[in-house]
Amino acid sequence: MIFEPFTIGDVTFNNRVIRSSIGGRTAYYDGTVSNAWKNFELRFARNGVAAIVSATLNVNPMRWSPLEYPQISHDKFITHLREAIHAIHAEGCKYVIQIGDGGSHVQTSLFSQPQDGYGPSSGFDLLFGYRTRRTEMTLADIEQTVHEFGQAARRVRETGADGVEITASKGYLIHQFLNPAINRRRDRYGGSVERRFQLLREVIGAVRRQVGDDFMVGVRISAWDRNYLPIDIRWPVTRPLRAFLRGNDIDTYLRYGRWLRDLGVDYLHVSNGYGFINPGETPGRFPVDEVRQFANSTRHLSAKAAVRATILNVVPKMLLDRVLGIGWTTGEAANLRDAQRFRQEVGLPVIANGGFQRRSLVEEALESGACDLISMARPLLANPDLVEVFRQGGEAPARPCTFCNRCAIRTTLFPLGCYEPLRFDSDAEMEAQILDWSARPDVTEPLPWDPSGPAIPSPAGSGDARRAGHLGGV
Ligand SMILES: Cc1cc2nc3c(=O)[nH]c(=O)nc-3n(C[C@H](O)[C@H](O)[C@H](O)COP(=O)(O)O)c2cc1C
Repeated sequence: MIFEPFTIGDVTFNNRVIRSSIGGRTAYYDGTVSNAWKNFELRFARNGVAAIVSATLNVNPMRWSPLEYPQISHDKFITHLREAIHAIHAEGCKYVIQIGDGGSHVQTSLFSQPQDGYGPSSGFDLLFGYRTRRTEMTLADIEQTVHEFGQAARRVRETGADGVEITASKGYLIHQFLNPAINRRRDRYGGSVERRFQLLREVIGAVRRQVGDDFMVGVRISAWDRNYLPIDIRWPVTRPLRAFLRGNDIDTYLRYGRWLRDLGVDYLHVSNGYGFINPGETPGRFPVDEVRQFANSTRHLSAKAAVRATILNVVPKMLLDRVLGIGWTTGEAANLRDAQRFRQEVGLPVIANGGFQRRSLVEEALESGACDLISMARPLLANPDLVEVFRQGGEAPARPCTFCNRCAIRTTLFPLGCYEPLRFDSDAEMEAQILDWSARPDVTEPLPWDPSGPAIPSPAGSGDARRAGHLGGV
């Protein structure tokens, strides 16, 4: 069934495997996508995925998460996106742009700025966002956000993309409004299940007005919030305590799913948990070393960021592994049963995500009717040719993704790629894999050097031909 086509509205997918969102430092400093980004995306298209869902492109010009992540907050970003999408389409692959706003979960910034702490309500959250406290958005701020989502969606359509996906998960702004532990408002945007949905309702309305009824609109939604996995410190504490500790459960999200269907949304991309990273969304191991690295690189931004980095530096790694590792498991297809409930109880096409890598598991998920499509991020990052492996009847790649989650954190600081040492024979091999797709000068032009030819001496007189060539191209 993997290679059977599937249609949503006017969009037909050649097979059932989609490359899930993978964000990284692939844009120029102003947020315009670079050739590294184009090459990165093209590689998946050339290796047979039916569609690619982009990284979360920021709709707000201030809130970047992190710097050098692509933006869609201005018309100037359209041209370069359009060029790449054209090349991706030529490979027979669809392209969906995911749009979002990090709200108070923005983790980095050039300088500290109040906008990076904007969310539904004021409060403190140790793990997510760098601002020491969240700031409650005014009604004017909310109106502006709705407008920004609408404008971003219009731009998505103008790029020639096949659809737009709205991030209502990941602990991003819309998710902050949906989550009862975070949203403590008492106006029309908070205080009940219905009112917490109001921002998303208005965003869908603004998006539809801009893209029209014939354009595919999807929503990335979480099935459960599970607020305290991993362990977090968050206040003020609110009642009921169950909602504070656990956030929304799947029954609430199924209600939201039905409301989204009634608002004309075309599909749901089902994820899990609250905040990036969390064990529901990226099941596997908690990457202590990488989180330490990241915390140290942002410690200058606020008192909270400094305290967080200090805690991570002074607490022995063995203890951190145990405490921060609570709730992290390598369960394959961990969210499949939840995706199935969305498919059955909402009735929209569903993309399941999280921990798929084996052919038989993907087949079983599709055959059982639990979902219509499967999306993958880390396994494809590790093995971009995974769909080809499946096509040739293979069960899994020779060197599978270990779900170590190093990539999820590393790529906020370094180029996108697989950072699991166990998958490579040497550091040089790992480095070549990372630099290979990040430094070609142009997607359409051949390399200006012959990668199989004689070594090009590097300026420093060290490194092999690949490295010298790549560095020359940056
Ligand atoms: C490096 C990296 C970057 C990611 N960036 C995004 C993103 O920008 N937006 C998003 O919705 N999810 C993002 N995710 C989450 C993935 O789309 C996916 O939900 C998650 O990795 C679980 O799927 P997997 O088990 O197939 O990797 C990212 C994941 C990784 C590893």
